[in-house]
This record gives sequence, structure tokens and C-alpha cells, in this order.
Amino acid sequence: MTDDVITLENVKIERDGGVTFVILNRPEKRNAMSPQLHLDMCEALDWAADDDQTRVVVITGAGGNFCAGQDLKLFFRANEGNPKAMRKTGNASQAWRWDKLSRFPKATIAMVHGYCFGGGFTPVIACDFAIAADDATFGLSEVNWGIIPGGLVAWAVTQIMGYRDAIYYSVTGDKFSGKEAAAMKFVNKSVPVANLRDEVMVLARKLEAKSPSAVQYTKEAVRSVRGMSQDQAYDYLECKSNALKALDPEKGREKAMKMFLDDKVFKPGLGEFKRD
Ligand code: COA
Repeated sequence: MTDDVITLENVKIERDGGVTFVILNRPEKRNAMSPQLHLDMCEALDWAADDDQTRVVVITGAGGNFCAGQDLKLFFRANEGNPKAMRKTGNASQAWRWDKLSRFPKATIAMVHGYCFGGGFTPVIACDFAIAADDATFGLSEVNWGIIPGGLVAWAVTQIMGYRDAIYYSVTGDKFSGKEAAAMKFVNKSVPVANLRDEVMVLARKLEAKSPSAVQYTKEAVRSVRGMSQDQAYDYLECKSNALKALDPEKGREKAMKMFLDDKVFKPGLGEFKRD
């Protein structure tokens, strides 16, 4: 662990080698998202994107919970009748939960334990990977207090859930567990809470060992082609492949090809090539 990380009021940063934990840090409020937390998360993600040591970002919450959604007092009530404040906070809220996270240049993992409600769904969906505790509690609770899953939540949910599940959980507000989330592929997998961090670290270490450029370009490619026609995707992927070939500072493709074809010391089918 090193301490060369930024300090923020509502977000804590911890390092484990190239893996950086970005932790929502209002445990006494179950990490409900206040305006300050949104501003802090914007800053934290900008910092982690530029931080050379960070290879993988894990988003999680302090105190055994992921996030109790938007802070009803500080996000909703305090901004009522103040459209300027609402716009500023709303923009920051959208910026980190979707724009920055879904376009993040490094691999991202949501580590979900305890409660995850409402607006807390968006960052889980925006991350590349999500691993939950079996006993985590997810809920689109908006309907329970007379609002809709706004601020992109309903849209984000339909990016990842089947339509029946999206309607069911949005309209009933029924809770579902980490195990159920894994069964419907809302998260990649769920594990007993005692193993959660270890399981996340296994995935994070795997990602950390790969070429950073190959990881970045691959996730960007998969994300972008989802909204394209076949022709567009073919063209885009050709350009993207050429961009990676030209811009990868490690020249991974050339090195790996030589290791496989000439030196015969590496088999791409069985794992990544050893980087310098
Ligand atoms: N907004 C504002 N404050 C919240 C909050 C939220 N979303 N979620 C929790 N808190 C606050 C509580 O008001 C309480 O504050 P207090 O100690 O000053 O009274 C504190 O966090 C602890 O919450 P509490 O309800 O006592 O804890 P709990 O463990 O019994 O229950 C929840 C936790 C998450 C089930 C419950 O707080 C809850 O239902 N929160 C709202 C969840 C929600 O619907 N979010 C969606 C918003 S879009």
C-alpha cells in the first residue's frame, strides 16, 4: 500500500499494487450519494484515469454497504426549487456514474456488498465487471416512494437486464439478492461475503497482468459496437484495430507474435504474453 493518493471528503482511495479501490465513504448514511460525494467521485475517477500506477479500478462502498442510492435529504430535498443547484449536482451525478465510468480507460469492477438501491445501480451497470456478495440486497426502490428510476437508472437497467426483469423490478420495487443478481447476469458472479474481496482481487490481478492498451481498446470496442449496424461495426473495428497497432506504446502485438511464431515461447490460447 502507498499513500500517494488524493484525499477527498466523501470518497476514500486505497491502493493494492496496480488495483485502486475507489470507495464511497459515507458509511453512517449507507453511502447515500450527496452532492459532495458526486463531486468527489468525479475528482477520484479523473485522478485514477491519469494515475500511472492504477491499472484496475474497483468501485465499492465503506462499512459493508455499496450505496443506498441518492441522498433523499441532500440530493433531492435540499435542491427542491433550485434548478441551478439541481442541474449542477445532477450533472456531476451523471458524469461519474455513467459518462466517466462507462468510458473509463482502464478496467473497472463493481464490488457490491450490503445494500445497493436506486441510483446505486447506475455505477454497477457502468462498470465492466460486477461481483456481489451472495447476500447483497439490490432494489429499484424508487417506486416505493413515488418516483421513477430517473437520472438514467431506467435506461441503464435496460442495457443489462432482460425486459421482463427490468419492468418487474422497476415496477414492483422488489428486492433481489446477490445470488439472484448473478442468476440474471446483472453481475458476473456472487460469492459468500467473506470471499468477496479475494474474488475481486483474483479478477483484478488477471486484468492487471494484461496489456493496458489491449484492455482499453477491447472494452471500448465491445461497448461501442453494441449500437452499430454490421457495416458500421466492421469499419469501426478495422479502424480501432489499426489505432491499437499504431498507438500501443508496448507494441504488444509485434512482441507477442514474435514470441509465438519465431521464439515459440508463448501460446496466446493459454494466457497473456509476459510483458516487460
Ligand atoms: N438518503 C438519505 N439518507 C439515507 C439514505 C438515503 N437514500 N439511506 C440511508 N440514509 C440514512 C438514514 O436516514 C439514516 O440517517 P440517520 O442516522 O441520520 O437517521 C442512516 O442513513 C442509516 O439509515 P437507516 O435507515 O437507519 O439504516 P438501515 O440499515 O436500517 O436501513 C436502508 C438502510 C438503506 C434499507 C434504508 O436506509 C433505506 O431504505 N434507505 C433508502 C434507500 C432508497 O430507497 N434509496 C433510493 C434513493 S433513489
